[in-house]
Amino acid sequence: SQKNDFKENIHSNGSCQQLPQTIIIGVRKGGTRALLEMLSLHPDIAAAESEVHFFDWEDHYGNGLQWYINQMPFSYPHQITVEKTPAYFTSPKVPERVYNMNQSMRLLLILRDPSERVLSDYTQVFYNHMQKHKPYPSIEQFLIKDGELNVDYKAINRSLYYIHMQNWLKYFSLDHIHIVDGDKLIKDPFPEIEKVERFLKLSPQINASNFYFNKTKGFYCLRDSGRERCLHESKGRAHPQVDTRLLEKLHEYFHEPNKKFFELVGRTFDWHS
Ligand code: A3P
Repeated sequence: SQKNDFKENIHSNGSCQQLPQTIIIGVRKGGTRALLEMLSLHPDIAAAESEVHFFDWEDHYGNGLQWYINQMPFSYPHQITVEKTPAYFTSPKVPERVYNMNQSMRLLLILRDPSERVLSDYTQVFYNHMQKHKPYPSIEQFLIKDGELNVDYKAINRSLYYIHMQNWLKYFSLDHIHIVDGDKLIKDPFPEIEKVERFLKLSPQINASNFYFNKTKGFYCLRDSGRERCLHESKGRAHPQVDTRLLEKLHEYFHEPNKKFFELVGRTFDWHS
């Protein structure tokens, strides 16, 4: 059961921990860390460092809002607190729970080509196993079953954006959900971040000069008051080579779901299919 009595912990310097007014809900491997780091360039943003998993993990949710607020960074009243937990987007119970906490929550959703996201998802789990020196099957072993595309593969289900989006739209209208184009954020982050600033009604303080392309990394990195830094090496990894025909099958499979998603959100994306 939810315990709803909580206090905003106050620091002696006047800062306090606040519930998030905006949440990056996903999608897993969509570029959620990049989005959070880039948004954090804004002085009015206070971001929770790690993924909180409040709304999707029963043991966390059962701890109530006081626990949730305790996970938040100290911030000043004019700042917007943000947390990101990419698993929220695909967890059926989460939309209602977020709605029950704050009906005017502003949601950020970063999406990426669904097929590319599947490869990225596989790569993430592959590296998790490698780190623990555990073997992990090839991507083909997940993607193919009885000679056909294995649509039961979890990573494929997570890329069926319209199914998950429908759950959110039961509780939040589209004007509460800003969709960031994750493919564009990779190629040219600044315009996407400007749109987020506008959605959150932040003053325009992030500049094009906050981003520079790092040839070694092959991605944009951040420049913040003279200091330059790239995202962690686990972000922007090479994906496995997949047979062209299998890849085409994957693209084809997402054709209808993508169309449904575009209709649902009244907007199209430059995805394969
Ligand atoms: P890959 O590592 O598969 O390329 P998330 O943070 O949600 O797990 O998403 C990770 C993805 O963010 C990476 O997936 C990468 O493509 C993407 N990304 C977007 N902008 C990036 C950047 N500036 N630096 C590194 N990765 C970035």
